Amino acid sequence: MPAMQPALIVHGGAGAIAPERLPLAEEGCRAAAAAGFAVLRAGGTALAAVIAATIALEDNPLYNAGTGAVLNIDGIAELDAGLMDGANLEVGAVLGLHRIKNPILLARAVLQSREVLLAGDGAERFARSQGLEFVDPAYFVEANRLRRMEVVGGGDGLVIQSTLDNPHEKHGTVGAVAVDRDGHFAAAASTGGYAGKPVGRVGDTPIAGAGFYAEDGAGAAACTGQGEYFIRMLIAQRVSAMMGQGVIAHTAAEQTIALVGDRLGGAGGLIVIDALGQVGWARNTPAMPYAYCRGDNIEPVSGS
Ligand code: GLY
Repeated sequence: MPAMQPALIVHGGAGAIAPERLPLAEEGCRAAAAAGFAVLRAGGTALAAVIAATIALEDNPLYNAGTGAVLNIDGIAELDAGLMDGANLEVGAVLGLHRIKNPILLARAVLQSREVLLAGDGAERFARSQGLEFVDPAYFVEANRLRRMEVVGGGDGLVIQSTLDNPHEKHGTVGAVAVDRDGHFAAAASTGGYAGKPVGRVGDTPIAGAGFYAEDGAGAAACTGQGEYFIRMLIAQRVSAMMGQGVIAHTAAEQTIALVGDRLGGAGGLIVIDALGQVGWARNTPAMPYAYCRGDNIEPVSGS
């Protein structure tokens, strides 16, 4: 297989974002894209690159994943994440976590195991056996408290302010998609769901084919938005299959998000990389911060 130009794209969640917060949201995406692309430039795999990028987003309290995860109706964070390696179609996904600092690292451990999907207590028991970092559930509550104070105080901190006004509009899921120089694809997604969600509610983020998908020779995708809609139409797999049939990244992303809106009345966005290694993104929400790097352009390009 001829060498491919490496590429990586990340997003910081689709939703209603106050205009003055967009620069910060894009800056965090650029930092995550740079972290992931550094892995690719050093000869690392697409899988390693999307994990590095997702960790950067999970560790940034601006986003609704990892440290910044929003709280459910009981005031507890319940985190989900998913990961797919397009080279061998291996998947690792976790859901309903309360105490794992970086859910994407647990998803990687699951991917490397016999299982595909681990939930709740069982997932956390497995995490302990893998030596992953735990935090007290109060860690997420405190991050939310600080963020809320910053918003009320007008400072920087919360990217998607609608969380405070209408929890159902908050969909700051993060995602990353990459192709490495060997032509292997990978996709990752991580989220806290939406603020005030019912206990036990799970969206598309840990569901392969819905919130994320990667398949060598076709493409890869990561989604953000109202997960219930992305599950119903298996949006990540659908857009990847479209690219596998030759539809270029941007067109595939636009057509697929239009389908989510027209067919289901759903809102959100997605990032993709097509079979030729071209990046694409689309949203039907007011904003979706993203950043990407491709080929020799190591300086991330960003937008909302
Ligand atoms: N897209 C994230 C969720 O619905 O939970």
